[in-house]
Amino acid sequence: MADDNKSASSSASGTGGTSGTSGTGGTGGASSTGGGSENDKERSTGYHMGSVDTVISVEEVSKQVEAIAQDITQEQIDGLVAGEPYLTISGLHAGYGQMEILHDINLKVGRKQSLCLIGPNGAGKSTILHSIFGFNNIFSGKITVGTGANAVDITKMSPNEKLSKAGIAYILQDKSVFPGMTVEENLWMGGFLKNKPAEAKEAAEKIFDKYPRLAARRKHLAKVLSGGERRLLEISRALVMNPEILLVDEPSIGLEPRFIDMVFEILEDLQNKEGKTIVMVEQNAKKGLEFADLGYVLVSGEVAIAGTGQELLDNPNVGRLFLGG
Ligand SMILES: Nc1ncnc2c1ncn2[C@@H]1O[C@H](COP(=O)(O)OP(=O)(O)OP(=O)(O)O)[C@@H](O)[C@H]1O
Ligand SMILES: [Mg+2]
Repeated sequence: MADDNKSASSSASGTGGTSGTSGTGGTGGASSTGGGSENDKERSTGYHMGSVDTVISVEEVSKQVEAIAQDITQEQIDGLVAGEPYLTISGLHAGYGQMEILHDINLKVGRKQSLCLIGPNGAGKSTILHSIFGFNNIFSGKITVGTGANAVDITKMSPNEKLSKAGIAYILQDKSVFPGMTVEENLWMGGFLKNKPAEAKEAAEKIFDKYPRLAARRKHLAKVLSGGERRLLEISRALVMNPEILLVDEPSIGLEPRFIDMVFEILEDLQNKEGKTIVMVEQNAKKGLEFADLGYVLVSGEVAIAGTGQELLDNPNVGRLFLGG
């Protein structure tokens, strides 16, 4: 833990930016699936849970997570990976402009594994995905993709190269469909981004076969879709790109339960049937940790806890702070 950076990071968290507002859209998150009845909600405590008087602030959650943060060893991180690591982040210091947001992040995920990042607003979860995809400044550290001798250093690649050469696709936290294009054109765009338009059309048809909901709207402009339908479209477009690694920021945000389930079903398909490696951020910690093989709790730009998804679900501190338990 880099204590000298704490103050910088906590003031950074305060600024919140757009991420803060979208994060609090935890409407679809905790409250819809976090445990059911109104009574449950009233009793629950923790981040994003419960009634107004039981909800605790981002600052308080950050303080409490820092208090229970573990010293995470390299062995522990290695031990979580099935087989050899496929995506590796080592000693990453990164941020925006001159401001360092992430302090010495180490993360590893094996091929065909999924990893979920949880943590309070402003912790730096999206910034980890930004760093992997090349959207921000990396001050030091290294990101590699691939196993053994085939591992490629992608730290300095442009986002474009990351998609075409390293097979990384990114589903952003903020809405990213092209509103003036139809649903099918949006899907085809996934292929243009990879310079494979013909394959994209084929992949789009597979998606339409599978998701009649999107098929029924294929000639509609994306801007008339509901939030849930738009999220489906965004994830489907990433499918068309046929990446090896999928970065997904807040897949369930703002969605009602049936859409949340559908989104997680797609992700499950992607991981288990198509063998994709998934790194996701999820405000709905319960859903995210139930889905993911691995879970990391991030606070103030540092990894505070790392374990299997199940270990985190069983961790009483994680339960109290993030699962409303
Ligand atoms: N483009 C940017 N320029 C400058 N600062 C930024 C930018 N994006 C994020 N930050 C800052 O970096 C810090 C971490 O933000 P990040 O978006 O990674 O948090 P997060 O954990 O994803 O939060 P949330 O749950 O709200 O999405 C915040 O203090 C935020 O204000
Ligand atoms: Mg975020």
